[in-house]
Amino acid sequence: MAEIKARRAELGDLARLAEIYNYYVINTPITFDLKPVTIEERAAWLEHHSDGARHRLFVADEGGRVLGWAGTGQFRDRAAYDTSVEMTIYCAPEATGRGIGPIMYGALFEAIRNEDINRMLAGITLPNEASIKIHERFGFRPVGTFSEVGRKFGKYWDVLWMERPLRI
Ligand SMILES: CC(C)(COP(=O)(O)OP(=O)(O)OC[C@H]1O[C@@H](n2cnc3c(N)ncnc32)[C@H](O)[C@@H]1OP(=O)(O)O)[C@@H](O)C(=O)NCCC(=O)NCCS
Repeated sequence: MAEIKARRAELGDLARLAEIYNYYVINTPITFDLKPVTIEERAAWLEHHSDGARHRLFVADEGGRVLGWAGTGQFRDRAAYDTSVEMTIYCAPEATGRGIGPIMYGALFEAIRNEDINRMLAGITLPNEASIKIHERFGFRPVGTFSEVGRKFGKYWDVLWMERPLRI
């Protein structure tokens, strides 16, 4: 098997990124999107996660095949929130539990370590043990759970929010 490397996401990755994301849209409550996304919509999302400063997107690449992504994006659009970023991290369904998430977070955290970021935030639909564990391992702490804030597959889902300072 080829080595797994984290590298910056590129436009050429869009179809694969949409394919991975749509698996989770269709089959899980992990994302609250209800309809599969188009490649054009993923292009806007990539742009939103790629200002080259606070917002970055990395993919895990195994011999040219993308196995997931990790990134930081805008939390809320009012300007005072700019120093807070929201995390996104997804491995392809066949690539979870192989330590790929930590490889991507390692590259991402290194890339943004000197940026003007104060808080990093992760919203996790419950239950999601793997996501809680990786965020704990990277220094995030739970701050609270919003109950039943999303409805998908005919039921309501709670979202746990976790946070960490950029510099611990
Ligand atoms: C969450 C995610 C990014 C973690 O990345 P990963 O590469 O799987 O992380 P690791 O292989 O280091 O596993 C992290 C921990 O979760 C555990 N784990 C992995 N997959 C698991 C699963 N399906 N169920 C329960 N635990 C799991 C691992 O055993 C490991 O535990 P440890 O820290 O005690 O060793 C990845 O599992 C994923 O993409 N999941 C689906 C999408 C998702 O939930 N994204 C996050 C949305 S908030």
